[in-house]
Amino acid sequence: MIEVDNLSKTFKVYHHRKGFFGSFVNLFSRKHRNVQAVDRVSFTVARGEIVGYLGPNGAGKSTTIKMLTGILVPSSGHVTVNGYIPHRQRKENAKHIGVVFGQRSHLWFDLPVQESFELLQRIYRIPQAQYRQNVEMFDELLNLGDFFQTPVRQLSLGQRMRADIAAALLHNPDVLFLDEPTIGLDVVAKARIRQFIQQINAERQVTVVLTTHDLDDVERLCKRVILIDNARLRFDGELTTLRRLLSTERLLSVDYAEVYPDVSIPNAHVVYQEDARVQYRFSPEEISAADLIGAILKKFRIVDVSIQEPDIEDLIKTVYEDNLTLERKLGESLSPDA
Ligand SMILES: Nc1ncnc2c1ncn2[C@@H]1O[C@H](COP(=O)(O)OP(=O)(O)O)[C@@H](O)[C@H]1O
Ligand SMILES: [Mg+2]
Repeated sequence: MIEVDNLSKTFKVYHHRKGFFGSFVNLFSRKHRNVQAVDRVSFTVARGEIVGYLGPNGAGKSTTIKMLTGILVPSSGHVTVNGYIPHRQRKENAKHIGVVFGQRSHLWFDLPVQESFELLQRIYRIPQAQYRQNVEMFDELLNLGDFFQTPVRQLSLGQRMRADIAAALLHNPDVLFLDEPTIGLDVVAKARIRQFIQQINAERQVTVVLTTHDLDDVERLCKRVILIDNARLRFDGELTTLRRLLSTERLLSVDYAEVYPDVSIPNAHVVYQEDARVQYRFSPEEISAADLIGAILKKFRIVDVSIQEPDIEDLIKTVYEDNLTLERKLGESLSPDA
């Protein structure tokens, strides 16, 4: 369904010199630097898959999605979605894909949701029967009825996201691109959207590519994840494999009874220290949680402790800080030239 081969995108960023005649001068002597947002990324996605496209902020996720949806032209490399080259065949491509950017709506801000939907029906030439059937189904799953007559600008973020996702699916696309669809949503709204994505994927075999920061999103939706960092693909495989490889590290938060000047403990790294609260990172292979807490209790008085699994973004960050470990851990799952 999706083929990405050595895809790259470089942005030219121009420096703006301020000052007298500054903007005129810039026209003639524009200095720029290149930002490599996506660097030789390759992967394929089969029909009906849900793939999580993950990575820290600025990794190149949105830029990839924009090339897959035809919004941006690649600097080099190849993309096809459903056989179409997105930036060359934007219209044909658009008929087969749905796109949602969590950060901004595709709907008309001043129109009620229903009128936005009806405009889309006309733009995509959606037959009346299909339109009715879809609106009915999406209403059932997302309770669109609660706000169908409300102008988009008055919707809550959760309502807007529900409307946006439904709108992206009105024309029965084969592929759905979701860029941070749960950003800023509360737990209930997130759960509803995840369930909807799952159901659409199961019932209609819609292929889903999802970028997110939310580990819960990924765990609930994606069997497979692709990890990018600093524009490069670093991992492509099952989420369970990734977790097993990365989550050897745990975090222990301790509230001490007082502020101790030296809180170091062998085999544990201090992640941060703020007043009497200290967070340690440790690897259960080196020291068990029980032994670590034991060692702490021998030296200090504590008020509270808790152990956390690092969230995906921290996990990714921690591991990239130590590239050698990553390469050892991920072994051949790494892209060959990463
Ligand atoms: N239009 C643009 N012009 C210049 N630089 C950009 C542009 N869009 C993105 N970038 C840069 O490309 C990199 C990747 O951005 P993006 O794809 O938005 O990352 P992500 O979605 O993973 O957070 C970042 O360094 C970002 O600043
Ligand atoms: Mg982004």
